[in-house]
Amino acid sequence: MFFASDNSGKAHPEVMQALVDANEGYAMGYGADPINGEVREKLREVFEAPDAVVHLVATGTAANSLILGSMSRPFDAIFCSDEAHIHVDECNAPEFYTGGAKLIPIPSTHAKIAPSDLERAILGEENRGVHGPKRGPVSLTQLTEAGTAYSLEELSALTACAKSYGLATHMDGARFANAVSKIGCSPADMTWRAGISALSFGGTKNGLLGVEAVIFFDPALAEEFELRRKRGGHLFSKNRYLSAQMQAYLRDDLWLKAAEQANNNAAYLADALERVGATIHGSVDGNIIFADLPRSTHQCLKDAGAVYHIMVGNLEGDDPSEPLTARFVCDWSISRELIDQFIGLFD
Ligand SMILES: Cc1ncc(COP(=O)(O)O)c(C=O)c1O
Repeated sequence: MFFASDNSGKAHPEVMQALVDANEGYAMGYGADPINGEVREKLREVFEAPDAVVHLVATGTAANSLILGSMSRPFDAIFCSDEAHIHVDECNAPEFYTGGAKLIPIPSTHAKIAPSDLERAILGEENRGVHGPKRGPVSLTQLTEAGTAYSLEELSALTACAKSYGLATHMDGARFANAVSKIGCSPADMTWRAGISALSFGGTKNGLLGVEAVIFFDPALAEEFELRRKRGGHLFSKNRYLSAQMQAYLRDDLWLKAAEQANNNAAYLADALERVGATIHGSVDGNIIFADLPRSTHQCLKDAGAVYHIMVGNLEGDDPSEPLTARFVCDWSISRELIDQFIGLFD
C-alpha cells in the first residue's frame, strides 16, 4: 500500500534487462557509446523534431536546472507557478545553475497558471532599469505537481504570451508521459507545436532507474548545455547505462504503456476514494491524487501500514474529524490487489 511517490516504485524489468545487455565488453564513455547515438536519434523521431538537440542526465533537477541555465542569464527572471518543483523542491538548484537568475512564482490553481497572470508577472519585471531583473524564460510543468494537465490550447496560450515578449518556454516533463497518455496527443503536439522551446523528458518516475532526457527544440538555446553539464558534474562517464535505460523506455512505447498503467491505477483509486467520502482536489489527470480525509481516517490507514504523504495539516492533533489533505501517487507497477487492499481498510 505504497502511495508516497512514483519515485518509490521499482524499475521496469525490461529496463533492468537492458542494463544487463549493455553490461558486456567495452564502450566509449561520456556519451560516445553507440546506444547514445541511437537513443538521441530515436527521441528526435518520437518528437518529430529532426533538428532537436538531445542529451541525457540522471535527475530531473539536473535536467531542469541545466536547461534553465542554458536559457537564461544570471540577471534574468524565470516565470513559473508558485507550486513549481523548480521553485519549491529543488533547493535553489535553478538559481545555482543559472548563476543567480530569480524565480518569479505566479499564483496558480491546482498548480496551473493562467495567461493573464503570466502576463501580469512578465509586465512586473524589466521596468526598473539596471536595478531589477530582466525578463527571462517561462517554465511550465506538465503533468503539474498537483496532478493536473494543461490542455494543448492552454499550453499554446501560455507560450504565445511568453513569445509575445520574446521569451522562450521550458517544460518540466518529469511526468510528461502521464500527460501525453491522458491527452492522447503526439509528443510533438504537446511540445514544439504548442510553442515549447525545451523539455525535461522524465523517465525515472515511470520505470527507469534514473534517466531524464533534455530536448532542445530550438538548437540555438543548447549551445552552452554540454559545457554546463560537465561543469555541473552531470556528465556520466559510463553513459552507456543511461543510454540503455532510455533505449528500453522508448522501445515499443514502453514509456507510454507504463504511464497508461499508472494513470489507470490512479483513476481507479480516485473513484474508490470518492466512494468512501474523500474530497478530491481538482481533476485527476495523471497518476497523482490530492484528497481530503478526516484525521481519524488517516490515523487508521497509517496504523494499517499505508504509506503516503500528508501535505496539509498534521496527523498529531485533537480533532478527529478535521480534514487533512493527502497526496496519493500511483506508479506503473502497483497492483490492483494492493489498491483494493488499501480501499478495504475503509470498511
Ligand atoms: C514536477 C517534478 N519535476 C522534477 C522532478 C525531478 O526531481 P529529481 O531531481 O528528484 O529527479 C520531480 C520529482 O519529484 C517532480 O515532481
